Amino acid sequence: MVSADPPRNPSHHLAMRDPSPWVVRFARLIPTGGAVLDLACGGGRHARHLISLGHRVVAVDRMVDAVADIADTAEVIEADLENGSPWPLAGRRFDGIVVVNYLYRSLFPILIDSLTPNGVLIYETFARGNERYSRPRNPDHLLMGGELLSLLGDTLQVVAYEHGILEKASCPGVVQRICAVNDRRSSRRENGEADPHAIYAPGQQQPVTESDTQVS
Ligand SMILES: C[S@@+](CC[C@H](N)C(=O)[O-])C[C@H]1O[C@@H](n2cnc3c(N)ncnc32)[C@H](O)[C@@H]1O
Repeated sequence: MVSADPPRNPSHHLAMRDPSPWVVRFARLIPTGGAVLDLACGGGRHARHLISLGHRVVAVDRMVDAVADIADTAEVIEADLENGSPWPLAGRRFDGIVVVNYLYRSLFPILIDSLTPNGVLIYETFARGNERYSRPRNPDHLLMGGELLSLLGDTLQVVAYEHGILEKASCPGVVQRICAVNDRRSSRRENGEADPHAIYAPGQQQPVTESDTQVS
């Protein structure tokens, strides 16, 4: 992601242990026991969370020392995704793909093609405006407004999307994040619409809505 514009502290991302709340929230849409890819996994905080959910995890990064300890429970692949080498997972499909704090735009068509039918893509990274907070500041590494929607929305069903400032986060800044499901291609409806997904799991804490407070 950031060869020209390294993270704020080069080892900061490797030390992060808590998974992103966005990933935690939507990982439950991935079928139990599914094959899940954590792309640019860093220290493996999402790979570890996905393993704890019972998924079969593939973790890819150009530097994999920080995930050596999970090599017996996950498939760890060392690969540079930007140096022109062939895609390291050619022919493989995933029930879930998680990408956090990494952006290499050329990979989006490959990621879409790597989803199984009903596969779930959870993507979160920094967006324009983040330069006011911290690195990355290089526009090549910052999403434009609505960019994840434009890249994915024609092909996948967008379950949730956010773009804005996150003050209380392990990396405060401007983020854009999406959860999208590969179920439009199998839709039998004429407009390609697919069945909706629950945006909160049963029992999951969710904001109070008008209907919760209505007096009948
Ligand atoms: C900011 S870290 C995010 C790590 C992890 N996804 C997380 O959220 O904790 C970005 C990761 O992208 C990896 N990366 C950057 N450029 C890469 C490349 N060309 N090929 C593979 N991985 C790369 C880095 O090694 C680093 O682990």
